[in-house]
Amino acid sequence: MTSSKANIDVRLQKILILDFGSQYTQLIARRIREAGVYSEIYSCDADMEAIRAFNPSGIILSGGPESAFIEDAPKAHDEIFELGTPILGICYGMQTMAEQLGGKVEPSSHREFGYAKITMDSLVGIFDGLDEPANELDVWMSHGDRVEVLPPGFDSIASTDNAPLAAMGDLERSFFGLQFHPEVTHTEKGQLIIENFVHKICGCSSHWNPGNIIEADIKRIRDEVGDDNVLLGLSGGVDSSVVAALLHQAIGDQLTCIFVDNGLLRLGEADQVMEVFGDHLNVKVIRVDAEDLFLGRLEGVSDPEKKRTIIGNTFIEVFEQEANKIENVRWLAQGTIYPDVIESAGAKTAKAHVIKSHHNVAGLPENMSLKLIEPLRDLFKDEVRKIGTELGLPDTLVHRHPFPGPGLGVRILGCVNKEYADLLREADAIFIEELVKQDLYHQVSQAFAVFLPVKSVGVMGDDRKYDYVIALRAVETIDFMTAQWARLPYEFLHHVSRRIINEVEGISRVTYDISSKPPATIEWE
Ligand code: XMP
Repeated sequence: MTSSKANIDVRLQKILILDFGSQYTQLIARRIREAGVYSEIYSCDADMEAIRAFNPSGIILSGGPESAFIEDAPKAHDEIFELGTPILGICYGMQTMAEQLGGKVEPSSHREFGYAKITMDSLVGIFDGLDEPANELDVWMSHGDRVEVLPPGFDSIASTDNAPLAAMGDLERSFFGLQFHPEVTHTEKGQLIIENFVHKICGCSSHWNPGNIIEADIKRIRDEVGDDNVLLGLSGGVDSSVVAALLHQAIGDQLTCIFVDNGLLRLGEADQVMEVFGDHLNVKVIRVDAEDLFLGRLEGVSDPEKKRTIIGNTFIEVFEQEANKIENVRWLAQGTIYPDVIESAGAKTAKAHVIKSHHNVAGLPENMSLKLIEPLRDLFKDEVRKIGTELGLPDTLVHRHPFPGPGLGVRILGCVNKEYADLLREADAIFIEELVKQDLYHQVSQAFAVFLPVKSVGVMGDDRKYDYVIALRAVETIDFMTAQWARLPYEFLHHVSRRIINEVEGISRVTYDISSKPPATIEWE
């Protein structure tokens, strides 16, 4: 970890990414930040005023699904080419830059998807220092069009067998275009290409690291909050935990966390949260044991959306009741992170289709007239985790699989009650314990048990018995939008199944879910 100098403005030098709709846009932002430089994503049609106000040290035009030569293809503002700021166009970004600056783009006779070998012709600028051991790179391509005629001022700086213009550069204006994707890990030395752009071409230093981010955020939080008290709904998930640790460092006892045990948490979870935050970090946490209230309201309710609504609304009610007991509270902290911000900005234009109402702990009271403080608003999940570790949170918390706000409420099919929740908790704990023990926990993205309220026959000793069924679910995914069922070893599944049936009285059968998403979802409800 780099140690920080006092009062460095970690967001002073920054790169702006204009998004033309590529699936890789967030990856570009993360790669730049891994190079130690702050970056933000704006839509490709963002106001020129907003772009100027952002005052970028460099601009990246992302890839995108369109063709740059069609009539109403999305374009960058022509004025960005007059700012005197270095610009890097990636894939579509290169093509629109070529078209807008007087070159020509046409459909390629050889569409290139996947690996290609480029030969670098110029080893200054974007390819500086990349010629060892040869001036060739394996890169990742994904395009159907290509630049046929360079705009004035540009030279070809790389080629493939199919495309004589695989990269272009205008050294004088520091404009570069790459037909391939340096941000994906399949591209050899892609990170070095990004570092060349941000460090050597845009002149940015590496200030963006966990130590500096924490220091800068603590200062920002103190300036913003002053002597006021801040309230936080702590769920035990990564985001709210990191907010708690960060706010505690910044304002100590001015922070009060409310942790609601809704009776739908995993085995031992409430105690763990209290141990880490209350005993270990000395954070003020109010624990509310509201199991009876939640389970009472859920009695007889089998519709998943109704269950979600009840759990969400009851949470708000309990939270408000507790919050009203605390004096001088002006602020409500939330664990919003950057992908939430980008996605909700995008959702204004995108045809977002709501499949499930996700009542997160973050969906908090609107009528409390509190000001919002969201210290993780411009951080990606991997950055949040690094900050959590730097702030002293245990790995088991920082690298935990995601857990839905309604908890076991959506993992007990149909009506929820304490008996079912207890059985599920025990089975789930065995599954997770074995995954950890056998080093499989981090090889899957999310794993859990589901309770099926149907009875199936089994034989224990000489007795027949009719008991409930547990389904195990483990998935591998990058973004949780699509997911593959995890190919866990048969022997492992066999062992977990035996343990659950032997140790959890009330369960007679264990199944493994082999459905991928789509069409199945990750949760069963
Ligand atoms: P699905 O089931 O939609 O899950 O494939 C995708 C991710 O979202 C989580 N999930 C939820 N999270 N409240 C939440 O906070 C919810 O109601 C909810 N439903 C699903 C799920 O665990 C997975 O990570």
